[in-house]
Amino acid sequence: MQSIHSLPVDPDRLHAIAGKWGTPTYVYMEDMIRERCLLLKNLFPNFPVSWLYAVKANDNPHILKIIANEGFGFDTVSYEEVLLCLKLGTNPGDIFYTENNMTDVEMHCAAKQGVVLNIGSIGRLKSFCEAYPKSECSIRIKPDISDGHHAKVDTGNQDSKFGIRLDLVSEAVGIASESQVQISGIHAHIGSGIREPENLLTEIEVLLEASEKLRDLKFINFGGGMPIPYRNDERSFDLNRFAKMASERFRSFLDNINRPFSFYFEPGRWVVGPAGILLTQVNTVKDQGRKLFLGTDTGFNHLLRPALYDSYHEIVNISADPENRMQSYHVAGNICESGDILGFDRTLPESKSGDYLAILDAGAYGMTMASHYNRRALPAEVLITKEGYHKTIRKRKTPDETVDGFLSDTGMIRMDEKDGAV
Ligand SMILES: Cc1ncc(COP(=O)(O)O)c(C=O)c1O
Repeated sequence: MQSIHSLPVDPDRLHAIAGKWGTPTYVYMEDMIRERCLLLKNLFPNFPVSWLYAVKANDNPHILKIIANEGFGFDTVSYEEVLLCLKLGTNPGDIFYTENNMTDVEMHCAAKQGVVLNIGSIGRLKSFCEAYPKSECSIRIKPDISDGHHAKVDTGNQDSKFGIRLDLVSEAVGIASESQVQISGIHAHIGSGIREPENLLTEIEVLLEASEKLRDLKFINFGGGMPIPYRNDERSFDLNRFAKMASERFRSFLDNINRPFSFYFEPGRWVVGPAGILLTQVNTVKDQGRKLFLGTDTGFNHLLRPALYDSYHEIVNISADPENRMQSYHVAGNICESGDILGFDRTLPESKSGDYLAILDAGAYGMTMASHYNRRALPAEVLITKEGYHKTIRKRKTPDETVDGFLSDTGMIRMDEKDGAV
């Protein structure tokens, strides 16, 4: 049997969406996003814990609005993400900007906007302190503890490009105090899709210990990384157990410091991952001798995770009769690369051209990593609102609009056009 039970939306509803909006289309569930925000917010009832949503996971403005409405601030990793949140009306104080090889221009823009700047290198800290004496910032450290669903998103290890080395924290304090800059926050993010909750607890220990060197500290941000199960047999992250263990450490820390203090977490995937589905349509069924392929109208240009990280996403045929004979397929995309396989050896009821497939758990790092590779249009995005309506939250462009937009961005109209002065 294919795993129809893990489909979080009624297949009839998905058919209706595919019928009206076409495919490929990302479908998100507002209810589930709100429920997940609430679960997180209730995790530490007796502690000053606040939540920042990692915008990089899914930055559709309608999704951001839902999450802000649930009382989350935003964790951003580029000046463009900062601007996006500001333009949506977020208070600068609720935006945490973790820089990573930031330019001077980006630093000045962010500082001017008044967002909380989280600095990840000694060099950048020096330039910030020279430019903004008597101000405040946060620092990101490299905790030398790492975890993640793939080596490419394992960010806290010894050789990682991120953060200030632990043994340089005293130097950072010296640099800041010379310019009377207050290091008001300390941060680390050990990776995305953490496999072992113990690693997150160890990171908490490291940050609490490092904070002893920072007398002006007002908050610690422990980063994101909470995993979601992508396979039916994968364990869920035991949030309550994690919260219980973290709370014990928070209690002894707060008892010792005896002044107002805040803790932050900045999850992305956990909030939106399970609340998104990529709907696609089969257009080709092909017997390649040793393998049967289902060819679809999407690909790694729309969902990069399988190709980039060898990630697994459940794929459900929502059109085929579940009583059909089961068959093993490679589910392939329409991108001109042999690596464009969305799922290997998937057992599905015998499928045919025209069937719709739902690719599950695609709400995080799906659309934000999508590209126009092969010059294809981006998917549409549809939100199932909490009232049960279907709302377009991004229109799909037609092939003409996609190509015309590209030509106008490049300033090129026709091959025989005369080159003018620049
Ligand atoms: C600095 C930072 N914070 C938070 C996150 C969110 O991680 P996740 O979506 O795994 O919770 C990321 C993603 O890698 C990140 O780079």
